[in-house]
Amino acid sequence: MSTKTGSYKTYQSHARHTGSNPAAHIPDPRLLLLPQEILKDARVLDIGCNNGAVSGHLLLRHAVKSVVGVDVDEKLISKSRSHVNFMLSRVRPSDPSGRGEWYPVSSVRKYGSRIPPAEVCERGRFWCGDYVTAIDPAAPSAGGGCAGYDVVFALSVVKWVHLAHGDSGLRSFFEKVAVDVKPRGYFVLEPQGWESYARAVGKNPELRGVFEGIRVRPGEGMEGLVAACGFRLVRRWGVGASEGGWD
Ligand SMILES: C[S@@+](CC[C@H](N)C(=O)[O-])C[C@H]1O[C@@H](n2cnc3c(N)ncnc32)[C@H](O)[C@@H]1O
Repeated sequence: MSTKTGSYKTYQSHARHTGSNPAAHIPDPRLLLLPQEILKDARVLDIGCNNGAVSGHLLLRHAVKSVVGVDVDEKLISKSRSHVNFMLSRVRPSDPSGRGEWYPVSSVRKYGSRIPPAEVCERGRFWCGDYVTAIDPAAPSAGGGCAGYDVVFALSVVKWVHLAHGDSGLRSFFEKVAVDVKPRGYFVLEPQGWESYARAVGKNPELRGVFEGIRVRPGEGMEGLVAACGFRLVRRWGVGASEGGWD
């Protein structure tokens, strides 16, 4: 686990899920909050993809066309690849009587993946890098061939970007997303609260210098910055404060 970038290896179970890690069988409640029509057949970018759990859920349960995941941690990128392979290998029956098509988790464990590597690569691609500074040659922000993403997710990652790069880095982050998302596409942002920044600094004092220089706080200026980078607020979702959240 890194207290510098939030690269928690057991992130999904850490975040209140039960069951084995990654808890592939438990839907991610955040994704269930979204209007599903924005996900259907969408090309998605998942920034801070961690172990690929969100990317896998998007592919398996939310009918997206493809996912590109990026994470700063190489080991998590490798986990993401195998996790998405695992999730894509679990195919639900297309109709309730189609029991023959069901390939449950026990079959994946016993017989291995049923999806050929080429198909996995086509639908789920992962690359390692700091999204602010690294370049995905295929991305619009690098002048790549990709036409842009229909939906860009930044779930529980902004705090880590902010603590690594300060206010100017956060602006670069939002500006890059604005280039990578298609016009009329969606940016799904789950910022962490200011108290969560303080907790991160408590665990890793190396972050204190940048932390003390931060002026653009979540709830105080961050929304203005997002708007200044070209986004318009469409809708706000949330779980109640009493239900906790992701760090
Ligand atoms: C707290 S986890 C969130 C995981 C996932 N997005 C979710 O909400 O379930 C934060 C993830 O962001 C990654 N991360 C942190 N800084 C990053 C950066 N600058 N670029 C890409 N990934 C980053 C960490 O390695 C970690 O896997």
